[in-house]
Amino acid sequence: MLEITPVLNGNRKEPLYLQLYTYIKDEIYSGNIAPSIRLPSVRKLSDYLQVSRNTIEAAYQQLVAEGYVESRPRSGLYVTPMDKEPLFLQNLLPVPSQSGNEWSRNEAGACLYDFKYGTIDPDSFPYAAWRKAINQCVHPDEQELLFYGEPIGEYGLRAQIASYLRQARGVSCCAEQIVLGAGTQQSLGMVCQLLGTDKRKIAMEEPGYDGARIVFENCGWSTAPIPLEDDGLSLEKLEKSEAKLVYVTPSHQFPYGMVMSITKRLKLLQWARECGGIIIEDDYDGEFRYTGKPIPSLQGLDAGENVIYMGTFSKSLLPSLRISYIVLPRRLMEEYKRKFGAYGQPVSRMQQKALQLFMESGEWERHIRRVRNIYHKRNFALLESIKTIMQEKVRIIGKDSGLHMLLEVRSRRSEEELIEAAEKYGVKVYPTSRYWVHPPKMGHPFILLGFGGLSEEKIEQGIRRLHEAWFS
Ligand SMILES: Cc1ncc(COP(=O)(O)O)c(C=O)c1O
Repeated sequence: MLEITPVLNGNRKEPLYLQLYTYIKDEIYSGNIAPSIRLPSVRKLSDYLQVSRNTIEAAYQQLVAEGYVESRPRSGLYVTPMDKEPLFLQNLLPVPSQSGNEWSRNEAGACLYDFKYGTIDPDSFPYAAWRKAINQCVHPDEQELLFYGEPIGEYGLRAQIASYLRQARGVSCCAEQIVLGAGTQQSLGMVCQLLGTDKRKIAMEEPGYDGARIVFENCGWSTAPIPLEDDGLSLEKLEKSEAKLVYVTPSHQFPYGMVMSITKRLKLLQWARECGGIIIEDDYDGEFRYTGKPIPSLQGLDAGENVIYMGTFSKSLLPSLRISYIVLPRRLMEEYKRKFGAYGQPVSRMQQKALQLFMESGEWERHIRRVRNIYHKRNFALLESIKTIMQEKVRIIGKDSGLHMLLEVRSRRSEEELIEAAEKYGVKVYPTSRYWVHPPKMGHPFILLGFGGLSEEKIEQGIRRLHEAWFS
């Protein structure tokens, strides 16, 4: 029988089937279980490992669902051959070692350490509480949820969001000013249509969020990149740009991570008042600040007259939920209803209601407290690992909040070369050049590391490998 000898530990939080699934997946990745090999039958493996057949079946089902393994009728389960590699794996396949590096060859260099930005910790997702909320919605008492809802979103959820934003983010708002959307880009698209797509120019931080830039450009707006200073975008350059709209990430600049100073916030609000400008504030991960006090929103400083505030549940709860929100100044809210009153709401009504119940029950607050703690530890682990292992070979940028950091790598290699070198050592890190309209021609490359989806242990191991890849 094919040797499958995982160390399964019933005391771990992770269920046994997941431990087994991860073990087999990693063995397939690393080539220890070759393509086309038949996996042992459920009965045999369960006898051998002394775990229930359900555990084995669940692990196998997961492997089949993700395409690592395929079922052949009346024959059994076989490891998927290379030419049938699941699509999502293709990017992660080990790059053949050119340097002959033993480490990468032995361990096949599969990307075991993926510092992907935008990933959350899947083990912290409140499965039971979420399931309970969903079950409450899928019930004959809630038949209303089977029909079309309010175009701007369910009132109950909007009221919950408004109350949360007032308390936790200092946003000045009520439920009537909130419009729900299916993610930041969809919400931004609505903002563009609201403000008019006629030859408008919007200023953006440089570097800044490319996901927003593409929406503005697709809506026919031109973008004016405004360089960053230590405390946020340059107001002088903003004025010179003559744009009357600006998109900013003041609580945690994306991707650099700085906080916009209070002086600059007040000046920016003054700029908007004086020129009739509008500020779009994207508060995408304001929940996660690890040192000092949370940074209240820019919108709250102005009673929200010239600021369109935006937020998302992607970082704080679940990216696949696809729920975001806009808080509109009152005068724009009227305009919004006139223009889009006949549009359907893009977020499923059941998901909205489930989120509302989840928030009302206090689970949301508990969840935020719990994950803030987890991400704080991961943030610390990443910082400490980089400081002790890489020392002065890199400069860390944006270390106090959010779910990512940038590394300025003091190396002669390009961004692309650094990423490739890392991949050969089984580490996936990400480019930053796409965040610039005019990427800097001089200086060292910047690499993005997301840490939301990696345990502290994996973070430390990943940084060790990265160090080997870049500096050995
Ligand atoms: C600056 C910024 N805003 C918003 C988002 C979240 O977008 P969404 O709500 O579409 O998940 C991200 C995610 O990467 C981001 O980096």
